[in-house]
Amino acid sequence: APETVSVSAAVADAIRSVELDPTVATVGSHSYPNVNGTIQLDAAIVEVSPGRHRCGAVMALEGYPGAIDAAFAVMESCQHRILVGSGAKAFLESEGFHPSVAPIPTALERPVAVLPEEDAGRPQPQPGDDHDTVGIIAVRNGVLSVGCSTSGKRAKLSGRVGDSPIFGSGLYAEPGVGGAVATGDGDKICSFPLTFSAVSLM
Ligand code: GLY
Repeated sequence: APETVSVSAAVADAIRSVELDPTVATVGSHSYPNVNGTIQLDAAIVEVSPGRHRCGAVMALEGYPGAIDAAFAVMESCQHRILVGSGAKAFLESEGFHPSVAPIPTALERPVAVLPEEDAGRPQPQPGDDHDTVGIIAVRNGVLSVGCSTSGKRAKLSGRVGDSPIFGSGLYAEPGVGGAVATGDGDKICSFPLTFSAVSLM
């Protein structure tokens, strides 16, 4: 990244490119919807350097093609660290963000209960392949940034949150040590401080 771009901005850029990728069905704008047919996104970002710790997360964010920019905005401009659902949306609008004008049809047109053979034109979920996360870790000049984004799980209940936006579970960073980010079944991972444990063992 150019010197003028912060390491966290570079992490967010990389994650955003996955959120907007139409071939990715478990992150961002083309995700499998929840049981109500709505896409709810989770994302988080952590930036650490010696003596400094910054972070932001959003959970169950609706109406946006991605969530990493929202997590980044929480980290940069909010007095809180985690915002959820309609509160996250209200904060984003106060920051000048605007929901997507139109939902991306290939994502939202699709009822959750469609049979696989009807689910043409996009990647088919295989067993264990209906959830995933993009995670990026980068370091520059002693500043370490870890970010992640996911739509959680195909046909999840509305309001379900997995590991990804939970600090210490889905992502963690310790200055001078390292960072970790998780992917997998968030209903299992979120029960444990998985990435905190991984970094603690480094
Ligand atoms: N790791 C993504 C999720 O299950 O929420």
